[in-house]
Amino acid sequence: MTSFSARVLSWFDLHGRHDLPWQHPRSPYRVWLSEVMLQQTQVTTVIPYFARFLQRFPDLASLAAAPLDEVLALWAGLGYYARARNLHRCAQTIVSEHGGEFPSDFEAVAALPGIGRSTAGAILAQAHGQRLAILDGNVRRVLARHAAIGGWPGLPAVQKQLWREAERLLPHKRLADYTQALMDLGASVCTARAPKCTRCPVSDDCKARKADNIAEYPGAKPK
Ligand code: ADE
Repeated sequence: MTSFSARVLSWFDLHGRHDLPWQHPRSPYRVWLSEVMLQQTQVTTVIPYFARFLQRFPDLASLAAAPLDEVLALWAGLGYYARARNLHRCAQTIVSEHGGEFPSDFEAVAALPGIGRSTAGAILAQAHGQRLAILDGNVRRVLARHAAIGGWPGLPAVQKQLWREAERLLPHKRLADYTQALMDLGASVCTARAPKCTRCPVSDDCKARKADNIAEYPGAKPK
């Protein structure tokens, strides 16, 4: 059988999202901004905010130099305002500690305020094609089902298995597309309820599907 990543990439070419504003171009600043906006907000909501934000703050330096109030005003309606405060703080940190250039080193990116392991991976894979895994809610569901990794992902032992699987499956090329592909697959095919397994490129070796217990993944929080 063709590798997991090759099947996911072929699916992406036909059915993935290729017209998202942060894909053209996939610059670190644009990808970073989009990933922070997308942390707790859906794509359709984010798109107009992303456009307005970029119009007012076309680059990192303009964001770093802006008063926080103005950043918060442009964020109004997106919610989770800690994200906007962190974004502003990140911009200032990048100016003061990284010469104004968004860092391309994983440790440096993951050390920025509000950026965890998955967001750091998502940014560097999309902006620079770095071979880094992501594990947001959608991707976690895809991998938990495909590899039948049970247990609540809030448990460190389960989390560890999921990250190991995410890294094991990484392709050696097209990391930006692969990252977007996994997110798209989780959002449109391997959905929380009523997954569309007949349209899934990796259903042939999906362990949860084989055992007919897809609904059991990812595991629920123990009571
Ligand atoms: N959620 C987080 N990042 C995303 C992306 N690049 N596309 C769609 N949904 C996302």
